[in-house]
Amino acid sequence: MRLNELLGTEFPIIQGGMANIATGEFAAACSNAGALGMIATGGWDGDRLRREIRRAKELTDKPFGVNLMLMSPYADDIARVILEERVRVVTTGAGNPGKYIPAWKEAGIKVMPVVAVAVLARRLERYGVDAFIAEGTESGGHVGEMTTMALVPQVIDAVNVPVIAAGGIADGRQLAAAYALGAIGAQVGTCLLASVECPIHENYKRAILKAKDSDTVVTGRSIGGPVRVLKNKMSRTYLELEKRRATLEELESVTLGGLRRAVLEGDVENGSVMTGQVAGMLHEIKPVRQIFAELVAGGDARIKELAAQV
Ligand SMILES: Cc1cc2nc3c(=O)[nH]c(=O)nc-3n(C[C@H](O)[C@H](O)[C@H](O)COP(=O)(O)O)c2cc1C
Repeated sequence: MRLNELLGTEFPIIQGGMANIATGEFAAACSNAGALGMIATGGWDGDRLRREIRRAKELTDKPFGVNLMLMSPYADDIARVILEERVRVVTTGAGNPGKYIPAWKEAGIKVMPVVAVAVLARRLERYGVDAFIAEGTESGGHVGEMTTMALVPQVIDAVNVPVIAAGGIADGRQLAAAYALGAIGAQVGTCLLASVECPIHENYKRAILKAKDSDTVVTGRSIGGPVRVLKNKMSRTYLELEKRRATLEELESVTLGGLRRAVLEGDVENGSVMTGQVAGMLHEIKPVRQIFAELVAGGDARIKELAAQV
């Protein structure tokens, strides 16, 4: 089974939740373009989420979902709005969504936790999740330590439900590799930052297009909150402080509001420019429809080439 059959989408692709970026409008654009659009909730409360869900419903009749970061102070509120608004799919990150799953399942919602280690997938499977998204450290935003290549097959071996690969997928070669590892589809984030519809500041898009393969770095390892961002003044200052074992307060003073600074104000030197390692592969701003279609066609073509070689 491919992911599109599980989700009722045209393509086996999920637009990954991206805090402060994946609004109702952006998620609807991705759903209309054939993937599963996801509204990211980041630090929003339930009322803001309700407005974004309603906006998405105005803009698309295709399925879309909501991403819940479990460390959010509004997690209970968000979980309730997801139920009340009859969202079709939920992805969760940064924790154990076990306490919400029974009510979501009863409402017919598909639940797909994002995991960065196989042991968490094994623990969560018994709550009746529909699939897992195995996200490697290549990805942008909050990351684990394992690479997609090492993680995906180990999650697949650990559970009996389908697994979707995330982290480091931006063209057909990488999608074909995800299938080869046993994934039924992919979740992508970074390649969508270079899209026409992505509501980030033009400076953010330009910084992504300029980035080389090795231009990202992980901040926040010392405080147990690793985040992959572009190398810039902010990340250099942060890493320096981490090296000097600065206090949590000092560290937070550097990152406070950092994503908003980059996304809304276009301050790509002092802001948190979250992006994955595939930024170096992005050279052009394209409509999301073209990004998804090229990704999937490229994956199919690569599989055919490989089949012809054996
Ligand atoms: C700018 C940015 C913000 C992100 N924010 C979130 C988030 O709020 N919640 C989440 O579960 N994942 C978040 N992610 C991860 C994506 O949903 C997705 O899994 C990841 O981008 C896939 O890897 P890739 O970046 O290599 O395509 C974010 C990724 C990026 C690039």
